[in-house]
Amino acid sequence: MDLSLYIRLLKNDDVVVIPTETVYGLAASITSDKALRKIFDIKQRPLTNPLIVHLANPADIALYASSVPPEVNLLAEKFCPGPLSFVLPAMDGISPLIRGGHSTVALRIPNHPLTLQLIKELGNPIAAPSANRYMGLSATSAAMVELAMPELRGHIIDGGRCSAGLESTILGFEGGEPILYRMGCITREEIERVIGKPVRYVGNAKSEFPVAPGMQLRHYAPQTPMLVTNDVWNTLERLSTTRVAVLSFRETINHPAIIAREILSIGGDLQEAAHHLYDALHRLDQAKPDVIIAEWMPEEGIGLAINDKLRRGAESVLLS
Ligand code: TXA
Ligand code: MG
Repeated sequence: MDLSLYIRLLKNDDVVVIPTETVYGLAASITSDKALRKIFDIKQRPLTNPLIVHLANPADIALYASSVPPEVNLLAEKFCPGPLSFVLPAMDGISPLIRGGHSTVALRIPNHPLTLQLIKELGNPIAAPSANRYMGLSATSAAMVELAMPELRGHIIDGGRCSAGLESTILGFEGGEPILYRMGCITREEIERVIGKPVRYVGNAKSEFPVAPGMQLRHYAPQTPMLVTNDVWNTLERLSTTRVAVLSFRETINHPAIIAREILSIGGDLQEAAHHLYDALHRLDQAKPDVIIAEWMPEEGIGLAINDKLRRGAESVLLS
């Protein structure tokens, strides 16, 4: 694909929407503070929330991190390009806008041919958060980005539907100990298997100034209030509203109050469920129900990461 239009935008201090295997990103060249500022303006995102730097090659990690633990090399060999971001001490010269004022930088190698081509042709990495408004639902297609942020029309590289559909896993190190900051496509078990040691998860922090904003409790939220439950039918019976949208894992649930429904994977495949998650939530939102009732996924593998997004997207949680 000819990307020269997008290269020109990036070189002219502007932003471009990039496809990745996880979700679409809103990108700027790491050399343009002007374009980096535009990202925060468009997303309505606080300047303290750092951005992920997207690199074309795993070997470039050493160019942007001042020290690289051996675990990173093992993981990069296995998973990069792919949905894993590393938080590492930043090399001098990386804009504070990217670092959100921290001394660390998040680095990842996205697995999408168009975005890898873009970074290579631009000649330097790009920084990108997910292409959605602050705290809103992430976008897994170009159309979803344009619907949520129409001002970006003309800046979007359409690379099709995101294959994985869920954000990258974020891994950092504190005193040499591996720490999971955000659950994502790559599970904690997969990481532990490669590095041969336990990984601590700190993403449940309710702190007001979390290390990673993906850790804030309300995040990844649809416009409609959402409840998450183990028993959708029972929850439907208990609600008085008659305009309900239902997000279920594998079963079709019938009830007179349902005006829209999405089933994430009839075959019960959690990867498939992750792939459909944001798409399905967008569609349910568009049906303008009074409430979305979502069903918890099985607490295993990538189901843990899906449940984490559902928990953060929900107004309140009914444990039933
Ligand atoms: O899959 C993904 O990671 C997507 C695609 C576009 O690459 N990007 C993404 O970016 O999800 P964003 O900004 O929506 O989420 C990145 C998370 C944020 O919660 C941010 O705070 C955290 O990464 N992060 C970035 N730099 C960090 C740093 N230096 N220390 C701790 N957390 C960091
Ligand atoms: Mg995001």
